[in-house]
Amino acid sequence: MSSSELSSVGIDGVAVYVPRLYVDLTSEWAEARAPLQSSDPATLVAKLTRGIGVRKMAVPDAHEDSATMAAMAAKRLIDRLGINPADIGYLAIGTETTVDQSKSIAAYVLGMLSRHYGVDLSHVGCPQVQFACVGATYALEAAAALIRSGSLEGRSALVIATDIACYAIGGPAECTQGAGAVALRVSAAPRLLELEPRSWCSVTLDERDFFRPNWSTEAVVDGQHSVDTYLRCLDGVLGSAARASAARARGARDALTADYYLFHTPFPRMAEYAAARLYRRLEALEQGIGPDGWGSEPERERNADRARCKTEVFQAWFAARCGPGLRSASEIGNIYSGALYLSLADLIESLGERGSSAVGRRVLCFSYGSGASAKLFAGTIRPEFTQTAHAARLSGELGSADSSGRRRSLRLAEYHRLHGLHGVRPDLGPVNPSVVAPNEEFALLRYGSESSPQRVDLGYRYYDFVEQRSIG
Ligand code: HMG
Repeated sequence: MSSSELSSVGIDGVAVYVPRLYVDLTSEWAEARAPLQSSDPATLVAKLTRGIGVRKMAVPDAHEDSATMAAMAAKRLIDRLGINPADIGYLAIGTETTVDQSKSIAAYVLGMLSRHYGVDLSHVGCPQVQFACVGATYALEAAAALIRSGSLEGRSALVIATDIACYAIGGPAECTQGAGAVALRVSAAPRLLELEPRSWCSVTLDERDFFRPNWSTEAVVDGQHSVDTYLRCLDGVLGSAARASAARARGARDALTADYYLFHTPFPRMAEYAAARLYRRLEALEQGIGPDGWGSEPERERNADRARCKTEVFQAWFAARCGPGLRSASEIGNIYSGALYLSLADLIESLGERGSSAVGRRVLCFSYGSGASAKLFAGTIRPEFTQTAHAARLSGELGSADSSGRRRSLRLAEYHRLHGLHGVRPDLGPVNPSVVAPNEEFALLRYGSESSPQRVDLGYRYYDFVEQRSIG
């Protein structure tokens, strides 16, 4: 296959869904948590906003889960791009917050979309891909390969990342929770981002940095070790990309040079640490020091990254090359598998505001999942990108600039109730009461409760779209 045939696949559009409920980390929550950290609210808020980079965390309502959020992101993409759902040939979901130990969450989403749009989607392949936060990237890679192979017969693929980040209440990771979904349309002749077929690099380590045992609804995380493992994996793929580029008689630095950098962003400061590591590796390559000469002692490298973060030259580079992809993370929190693609949506929305000057810009993407695996890949902004950039729109419904009135702040007691619901074996039958009743959205409506010779559906999840008229 020629390289021109290889290169004509990529992301045609991106859309994000974030639950309307959130916890404001700078008020009641900080007052309640400060004593647990032997701190006071003002100091804790300074640590959260400046040290970690977070302000709010999105929380799903009782009728929401990873399946409803995925369906909402898909609906936004389909409606905003005017996609004919019958033209979808593959629907892959990356998640680490599945709703069933057996059934693919993608089949639930397929059912919601099929009923809502009144189309038969039974021809669509529907896998669920799990590997912490990198699962959706494995799905994207597979979807791109399927399209290149021609086996989707001209149809496009939907790749959806959907997750709820849930940690122990009162622990150091609690402030990095979040929830949301991002849908990508992957197609031949993409209008948004053409993926470079030869740019993909992977690394996988058998690690214990972050995991969620089957008995737990909350992740178990070794915080500092997880940060170091993330950066070790980043070094792994940067080194692979540099070596591969050098082997193809291009400069090793070429593979890592881009106009924009997007990182898996569990919290905004993590993207800054990662950018500092990348920046230092670019400097090393400039000085003729290849991957074999890069340091590998975690503490020394971490300290060198932090020192680089403090320099003005780095901060200016970071603001220009990484800032456009970091507009929303502090208002939403970690959305796990979707975090990198939320950053892509931010970048596209930001470039859409600037228009044609973005065409041809190279974007380097770092996807990371604990446990641990990482992927690096690159793409180029297409000349037609303004045709689909509007689908990425998100900023209007976030933060204090929210003009839609859609978001609603949770009181601490409401948040604690919702936190306790995730994954707890439900009473069969009705779903727990919502904080805000579902309105114009996909919702979990009830759990099956039958076990008779005619029908067995104990615990099965029933979903549908709730129209506005059915409220009240
Ligand atoms: P921590 O112990 O609460 O925070 O844990 P810290 O002590 O490390 O401080 C953080 C920063 O705040 C430091 O900045 C402090 O100096 C600063 P730095 O020195 O690094 O520049 N700080 C302050 N700044 C201003 N004013 C103050 C102040 N006090 C301190 N008063 C940690 C933080 C991220 C470890 C914790 O929140 C955690 O465990 N989070 C969850 C794990 C995580 O997100 N890991 C990231 C890498 S792993 C990953 O990304 C995968 C993941 O998404 C899951 C998946 O793949 O599925 C998590």
